[in-house]
Amino acid sequence: MTELDLQSRWSEAFRSAVVSGLSAPRKRLPSCWLYDARGCDLFNAITRLDDYYPTRAETEILLRHASDIAEFCGEGAALLEYGAGAGVKTELLIDAMNAPRLYVPIDIASDELLTTTERMGRRFSSLQISPVIADFTGAFDLPALPPGPRVAFFPGSTIGNLDRREAIAFLTRMRAHVAGGRAIIGVDLKKDRNILLSAYDDSEGVTAAFNLNLLARINRELDGGFPLDRFAHKARWNEAESAVEMHLVSLDAREIPAAGRDFEFRAGESIHTESSRKYDLNSFAALAEAAGWRLARCWRNAQFAVLGLEANLASPLEAWS
Ligand code: AVJ
Repeated sequence: MTELDLQSRWSEAFRSAVVSGLSAPRKRLPSCWLYDARGCDLFNAITRLDDYYPTRAETEILLRHASDIAEFCGEGAALLEYGAGAGVKTELLIDAMNAPRLYVPIDIASDELLTTTERMGRRFSSLQISPVIADFTGAFDLPALPPGPRVAFFPGSTIGNLDRREAIAFLTRMRAHVAGGRAIIGVDLKKDRNILLSAYDDSEGVTAAFNLNLLARINRELDGGFPLDRFAHKARWNEAESAVEMHLVSLDAREIPAAGRDFEFRAGESIHTESSRKYDLNSFAALAEAAGWRLARCWRNAQFAVLGLEANLASPLEAWS
């Protein structure tokens, strides 16, 4: 497939996500569309904010337990990373690993994926790297993998963006990818809601800009007419879902054109753009088990946990089929 075909496939997918999400009775836009070039820059700025603790907390764990985590990966492993992004934490892990053979960064953000691939190639000159442009929540083809252990790496608590059904489908697919191997997953822990809300509505307004960029992207790419100064970023705690939600709230009643249609907004109506689920260790272990994994290791601090999973030889569900 040519570069152009790929481009138009993605823009078609974006258009249809926007049309169906804005036509729904409760408007929503899937969070994966937050990450265009500008969105990636803004997200990387978020990870450096005082209010946004998860990146710092996870990096601290990876640094402190690097040799343990590397040993869990095994020697000569192929590392598959889902939602690789800038790959800062991956550098720590690969640096500690024993003779890793292959790195497969998977991301929907193709420009950032190429930048990361180039940087990692310079940093680890003997490591083979095979980037994959894909939305990891769906099915996609993996490159040929060498013999040896396979390890899936899913840091950043990105698993929190998936609802229960999506998370189980994802973890099941990930288990197939590593074929009986292991996984290392970053999970953000449930905590005081004020700490959570400040992390998703920071005092410097970077998260607001990150969220609003989704409307700017619709204006840019789908000929949208969102008045950016008449939408407000809002972070909300949803207790039943144990999730921080991001919303974009329309301050007025108005009709807004996008993707060749008109969408009706009531004053105060919101577009739900992201959920970040927060787990405790038991609830996450149960989720992993439902997808055929067993919790084998836990490296954690007060805020965040990095979990080592092992594939169950037979998952409880498959044993019956
Ligand atoms: C990288 C997807 C895990 O949910 O915490 C940061 C994205 N959203 N601030 C998260 C995000 C708002 C982040 N993930």
